[in-house]
Amino acid sequence: MSDVKMPDHVGIIMDGNGRWAKARMLPRVLGHNAGMEAMKRIVKASSKIGVKYLTVYAFSTENWKRSTEEINGIFKLIVKYVNSELKELDENNVKINIMGEYDMLPEDSVEAIDKMVETLKDNDGLIFNIALNYGGRDEILKGVKSLYKECIKDGRDIDTLTENDLSRYLYSGSCNLDIPDPDLIIRTSGEVRMSNFLTWQSAYSELIFTDTLWPDFTEEEYGKLLLEFSKRKRRFGGREQEDK
Ligand code: FPP
Repeated sequence: MSDVKMPDHVGIIMDGNGRWAKARMLPRVLGHNAGMEAMKRIVKASSKIGVKYLTVYAFSTENWKRSTEEINGIFKLIVKYVNSELKELDENNVKINIMGEYDMLPEDSVEAIDKMVETLKDNDGLIFNIALNYGGRDEILKGVKSLYKECIKDGRDIDTLTENDLSRYLYSGSCNLDIPDPDLIIRTSGEVRMSNFLTWQSAYSELIFTDTLWPDFTEEEYGKLLLEFSKRKRRFGGREQEDK
């Protein structure tokens, strides 16, 4: 893949776990478990291929509307993930960053996440962002409030504010990891919408929607979608070089 233009940052909306389980007459949480296995595959593939940043949508601010059983099932999976994967993530030099207010999760999940983040903090390979209790609008609103407070404190003229000023207060800008905007966002399961994922950061992302349900998503399909991305002509509102 060396001569192919790779995305530095890939975002994934891991959708379709529920339908995958329903098709097999299994409880939804087993669909999420299969989704976690798919996530492991794609984290490993991302490290191997040389993607620098991977951001997955694991739990949205809207997902609290689901049944307690399903929500607790997802939170338990996080503990399971840390227990089974931490060693290998470390061996693969992966660093983890959480986007979202994860301190609202149950105590054992918060402890597992903190342990994972702390253990991997000095790694400098793939930066794996997990969006947990994340909502794009919520992120922007929190950022605006913080920036407003900063302006009041420093007596700064609001008319001097730039997009970069707000970016500094988003999860992607406030973690000292220089996370660039996603080049590519993939959504599985045939749904064609963004669902409050990286609302600010996705302004110029390339989008790819696939019908595959997330638990069935393979490294092979990932490779194909990265190849599809490499053929896209990105203009960022300007004109292509050859048009000029
Ligand atoms: C969307 O599918 C998926 C989720 C809301 C949860 C995704 C969570 C995982 C893949 C596990 C994450 C694990 C860790 C350790 C972070 P859906 O339930 O909306 O599917 P449906 O649209 O078919 O019902």
